[in-house]
Amino acid sequence: MENVHVCDHPLVQHKISLLRDKNTGSKEFRELVSEISMFICYEATRDLPLKEVQIETPLALANAKIISGRKVAFVPIMRAGLGMVDGALALVPAAKVGHVGIYRDKANSNSAAEYYCKLPFDIANREVIILDLMLATGVSAVKTVEIVKNAGAKNVKFMCVLTCPEGIKALQTAHPDVEIICGAIDEGLNDDLYIVPGIGDGGDRLFGTK
Ligand code: URA
Repeated sequence: MENVHVCDHPLVQHKISLLRDKNTGSKEFRELVSEISMFICYEATRDLPLKEVQIETPLALANAKIISGRKVAFVPIMRAGLGMVDGALALVPAAKVGHVGIYRDKANSNSAAEYYCKLPFDIANREVIILDLMLATGVSAVKTVEIVKNAGAKNVKFMCVLTCPEGIKALQTAHPDVEIICGAIDEGLNDDLYIVPGIGDGGDRLFGTK
């Protein structure tokens, strides 16, 4: 699939298997999501541009590389995307964090409404990485990309732990420029729009609300 990157590192796959286990409790689930998010963020930031600088080591002058130009903004989709923020910030501590709350219309699975939005004022000059635990129907993802693009963002990526062909298709059809970086691509959606085999309700499992 074009513009989709699966982090197939053994540690990521191992940790996702632990997430899938229905006997994994909220504390461990949260820790695993955080760890997996670091790996996925590592891939999502792979093309950040570098510039050369000169640094004095204890021994000599060195031509060294540091990240230049584009700065990063993470935008978690509430609620499950919040579980990925700590892991992402562990890798890019200087990033700013915006928040988007999307309300999925239960009567119409194709529609989503924004109930909260607070983005960094300079989002247009940042590499925007949207975070959500699952890319399932794609409705929330498509809407969130629309929101950040309307706010001026030009470089947008989407990172999630799990996705499925339906979600990828929906996001790529609406926003073909947005690269998807994920931990695994599952079989598909069931009648209740859950990813199968999946991890169940990601928000409930993260926050212990079930
Ligand atoms: N959201 C979830 O929490 N789980 C799914 O399987 C799909 C969407």
